[in-house]
Amino acid sequence: MKNVAVFGAYGHTGRFVVAELRERGYVPLLLGRDQDKLLALAGPGLEARQASADDPASLDRALTGAAAVINCAGPFATTAAPLIEAALRAGIPYVDVAAEIEANVDTFAHFAERARAAGTVVVPAMAFYGGLGDLLVTTAMGDWTAADEAHIAYGLSSWHPTPGTLAAGVVSGQRRGGRRVRFTGGRLEYHDDALPTLEWHFPAPLGSQSVIGEFTMADVVTVPSHLAVPEVRTYMTAKAAADLSAPDASAPAAVDERGRSAQTFVIDVLVRSGGTERRVTAAGQDIYAISAPLAVEAVDRILTGRTRTTGVASAGAVFDAPDFLRALSSHLSLNVPLDANG
Ligand SMILES: NC(=O)c1ccc[n+]([C@@H]2O[C@H](COP(=O)([O-])OP(=O)(O)OC[C@H]3O[C@@H](n4cnc5c(N)ncnc54)[C@H](OP(=O)(O)O)[C@@H]3O)[C@@H](O)[C@H]2O)c1
Repeated sequence: MKNVAVFGAYGHTGRFVVAELRERGYVPLLLGRDQDKLLALAGPGLEARQASADDPASLDRALTGAAAVINCAGPFATTAAPLIEAALRAGIPYVDVAAEIEANVDTFAHFAERARAAGTVVVPAMAFYGGLGDLLVTTAMGDWTAADEAHIAYGLSSWHPTPGTLAAGVVSGQRRGGRRVRFTGGRLEYHDDALPTLEWHFPAPLGSQSVIGEFTMADVVTVPSHLAVPEVRTYMTAKAAADLSAPDASAPAAVDERGRSAQTFVIDVLVRSGGTERRVTAAGQDIYAISAPLAVEAVDRILTGRTRTTGVASAGAVFDAPDFLRALSSHLSLNVPLDANG
């Protein structure tokens, strides 16, 4: 049985990841900065190791004997670089669930060469935002290596954010100097334009929904990291966007035995090249919960050699995207037209 370290193990997403690792036969090593919170989670049979992002020696000790590390401690602007450094020192793969655009850009910019030289894999944004969208776009592209546009519409029934999500939003907002960001003309563009509200026609039963356009998520980093698509746009149901920015936003509440909330999602992906469109749709329950099978499936594929590259790579670049999505069939319902993935 292999040990997989989880940094931020007692956070909302970290707990889903720990449970998923156990279900998949891995031994999670519980890592985090707060010893009391770690011990409260550990219970019998699970090892807890206190470590701080600003103390490299503590990270080295915490990663001893780990086959891989999953970083669930956000904001990642603070934790990603020290954890990747520690993973490189330990010679083990690193996966994180960062939804912060600038932090993900930094991971590619600062670690691509060293991770490649080390022959290891660093996979940022291996979660609902950034990872799943990239797998869906890559699947929709099929045999295309380039497209004119990729559109990723998030049909969330609601969005009760965790403290970590809100903190990450604050950090990203500060890094942008309060400006907005979009991906156009093959690059990130910072701007002050108001965000458009438009209608997106999701497949039935969701149907037509009011969405916020240019509600820019981490997919604008992951998709163009390996696919030649100059326009990558993400959309969010207006209701969920309003939930996120509400002053009294409340955390997700568990409604089932897995700890999932009642939130449902549909991700509708459309890629366009010339006059041709390809579309892939996925649906499921709870954007935090689904991030666990995404991150753990990634680790499982890395540890069993089912990867296509080394270095810093997004989900769509490092894995066989349609095969990865099929492996999540107990968590996701997929609608992949035959012509999209051959
Ligand atoms: N890409 C995606 O789709 C996706 C999906 C899920 C989560 N996420 C991201 O993952 C992060 C965590 O989300 P969550 O839902 O688990 O939030 P959460 O329940 O609030 O947990 C946050 C965790 O991060 C830890 N943490 C924060 N700053 C830290 C630091 N400097 N050093 C060590 N640990 C630190 C917290 O520990 P303390 O309690 O000690 O502060 C806690 O364990 C957020 O940034 C969120 O945006 C992204």
